[in-house]
Amino acid sequence: MPEFIPLISEEEIKARVQKTGEEIAKDYKDLDLVLIGVLKGSFIFLADLCRKISIDHEIDLIGASSYEGTSSSGQIVFTKQPDLELENRDILLVEDIVDTGNTLLKIKEFIQFLNPRSIKICSLIDKHERREVKIDVNYSCFSLEKGFIVGYGLDYNEKYRNLPAIYDLKL
Ligand code: IMP
Ligand code: MG
Repeated sequence: MPEFIPLISEEEIKARVQKTGEEIAKDYKDLDLVLIGVLKGSFIFLADLCRKISIDHEIDLIGASSYEGTSSSGQIVFTKQPDLELENRDILLVEDIVDTGNTLLKIKEFIQFLNPRSIKICSLIDKHERREVKIDVNYSCFSLEKGFIVGYGLDYNEKYRNLPAIYDLKL
């Protein structure tokens, strides 16, 4: 049986998401903000975060899949493209976790082709140990050195996204 070691509580998540939303609202108050959630892992974070951003903004989704089990396959497949017009707009990519950085780098390159005014990154978790590319995570709620975590949208083989808090998964 896998073991779930509590890492970040619901209360801690709520407080950090609130602060991050307030910070984004302040930074983007004179800009044309579009949040783009990266499917599927960001869906819960995106839903909570957007409700803490008090300025007008729009929401879209992009689908990119790179993972099987706990190790990256290194391949990124686009499964959904954004629907909104993104030219000259201020894009904030919302991700669950940045690990090697390869997924977000590819997504950023793709969005760049659509001529936005700016592209920044907001990740629930910034995980450092296995970073392979240089990428700026402009907003992150939590920093993690290593480990494989689940809950609050994060999965292991598609399971455990529904857990309300974040757990370190020991297989
Ligand atoms: P990257 O391309 O290596 O940065 O991988 C990013 C993607 O890998 C994330 O969006 C997650 O879907 C997945 N991932 C990386 N680390 C974890 C983890 O600890 N738990 C669950 N998913 C993870
Ligand atoms: Mg993901």
